Amino acid sequence: VTAAAAAVALSFSAGSAIAACDDGEMVIKFSHVTNSDRHPKGIAATLLAERVNAEMDGVACMEVYPNSTLYNDDQVLEAMLNGDVQMAAPSLSKFEKYTKQFRIFDLPFMFKNIDAVNAFQASETGEAMKGSMARRGLLGLAFWHNGMKQFSANKPLLSPSDAAGLKFRVQTSDVLVAQMEALGASPQPMAFSEVYGALQTGVVDGQENTWSNIYGQKFFEVQDGITETNHGILDYLVVTSVEWWDGLDADVRDQLATILAEVTETRNSESFTVNQAAKQAIIDAGGEVRQLTAEQRQEWVDAMKPVWAQFEGDVGADTIAAAQEINA
Ligand code: LMR
Repeated sequence: VTAAAAAVALSFSAGSAIAACDDGEMVIKFSHVTNSDRHPKGIAATLLAERVNAEMDGVACMEVYPNSTLYNDDQVLEAMLNGDVQMAAPSLSKFEKYTKQFRIFDLPFMFKNIDAVNAFQASETGEAMKGSMARRGLLGLAFWHNGMKQFSANKPLLSPSDAAGLKFRVQTSDVLVAQMEALGASPQPMAFSEVYGALQTGVVDGQENTWSNIYGQKFFEVQDGITETNHGILDYLVVTSVEWWDGLDADVRDQLATILAEVTETRNSESFTVNQAAKQAIIDAGGEVRQLTAEQRQEWVDAMKPVWAQFEGDVGADTIAAAQEINA
């Protein structure tokens, strides 16, 4: 497709796929679950498609399917192994079936900010993680950032005891289940697209997510408020199938890899800003954002950090130590 046609198609892509591929172009389907604008992942996926469609015109064509319109995160990796989709960027919490190494990213208070996450991912240990699922048929191409997670509920959350007894939606991750149990709460794993309805109807009382997800999915509209806990991170792996990637012509694969690396660098450096804008948009829309005192925050640390010990065997004491050295 021409760049102009791609741009037109993209501007109509809010809820559905772009479909502007020409005959003879290799179609690359990119499936994800968030919105396309005002979201670190959505913006990155859109930019990736724009660049592929402009620079690889006649050779390759990327269709982005946002908002879980093609697959949700529980389905997409299976679909990828079946060759029905070529790229996705699920959160690192969604790879449990394929590797336990990413559990380090879900451990509460492991990383103080997205810069520490970035440095850890760029380390030798982090780089090696991209290849950790190769024998299961999946290849990590890049880490994409979202940001720090916050808690929200249908009542104010200031002390960990406020969360006790409440039901919280979590991503499908054993670490996140254990984290909520450490608070005396009841974790409910659930697909992203179902969370708003579950909060609205009281199937769950609360949830944890980044500002951009809380804003993008309008969770703040059906919650009492959000507490700025920054207690964990939500980040992504851009993933493809080993079979598809290895089957590409070398020059096509190199060009795609180069574009992806450039998009990754450009957009990762903006993820914090995108989340801060989402936080402000929540406040502007009347959402309640609560701050913790240093003493209150320490109570959350004390309640949740013991979870590390439960997963040290999966993650490795040396990996935890390496992360903490970076985080210092
Ligand atoms: C979630 O399920 O809450 C997130 O992984 C969604 C996303 O892709 O940011």
